[in-house]
Formats: sequence, C-alpha cells, structure tokens
Amino acid sequence: MPDDLPDDPNDPNDLPDHIPGQKQQWPVAEVGEILPGQRKMVTVGGRSVGLFNVQGDIVAVLNICPHELAPVCRGRVGGTTLPSAPGEFRWGREGEILFCPWHGWEFDLLTGKALADKRKHLHLYPVTAEGDTIFITL
Ligand code: FES
Repeated sequence: MPDDLPDDPNDPNDLPDHIPGQKQQWPVAEVGEILPGQRKMVTVGGRSVGLFNVQGDIVAVLNICPHELAPVCRGRVGGTTLPSAPGEFRWGREGEILFCPWHGWEFDLLTGKALADKRKHLHLYPVTAEGDTIFITL
C-alpha cells in the first residue's frame, strides 16, 4: 500500500496531502519573487519544474526535454532568428526561447512547442496567482 494513503479513511486528520490521480494546486513562489528574465526551480509532487518569468508572465515547465529527457529547464533562455529575406539576419523574441542544454533544441516558452518541429513540445502546467502566492496545477 502506498505510504500517502490514510490508515483510517474516515479520520479527517489522516487524509493524504495529495490524492493520486487528482489534480491539485501547489504553492510554488511568492508574487514578485521571480523577476522578468529569471527562473526558479521547484520540486512539486515528485516532479522537477522550472518557473520562468517571460516578460511578466510566469510559465511552469516540466524539467524533461521531449527529445532525450535532458533537464531542459537548466538551459539558456534567449532569442532566435526570425523569418527574413535571403541575405538578411533578423534576431528577435529575446527571453522567450529556452535552449535544451544537451542538443540545443529551441522551445517557445509561451507555447512549449519546439521551433523546428511543432509536434514536439515541453509540458507546461497551468499557473495561477491568489493573493501573494503563485500556484501551479498538476
Ligand atoms: S535532450 Fe533536449 S534536445 Fe536532446
């Protein structure tokens, strides 16, 4: 029997913190704690999650790359080349792109999608704020 199940299911003081299979909100940071361009790593429900402030919005990313399972949230955040005419070089989206530290795949932090293959994507969690606390749901 898993450790987090209650010994007595009728005892309200003996309920598990998390019911397996049910989504739950987890407090992960204080509002204003993660400044634009910064990140914070947390472990929630046994999962490593990266919290990124992307131009004022907090994005929560499972710390697993869909390519070969690298700790993707340790990667660099920056920009990428934009569509342009031959001979031109345009750079943009600074602060919105996460680079996997193993093979350099680029991910759009706002959608989670890989730039080179939109079928591959990061796992993002819903983020909410209540009062002074930021929560993620998983
Ligand atoms: S493991 Fe992330 S790009 Fe390969």
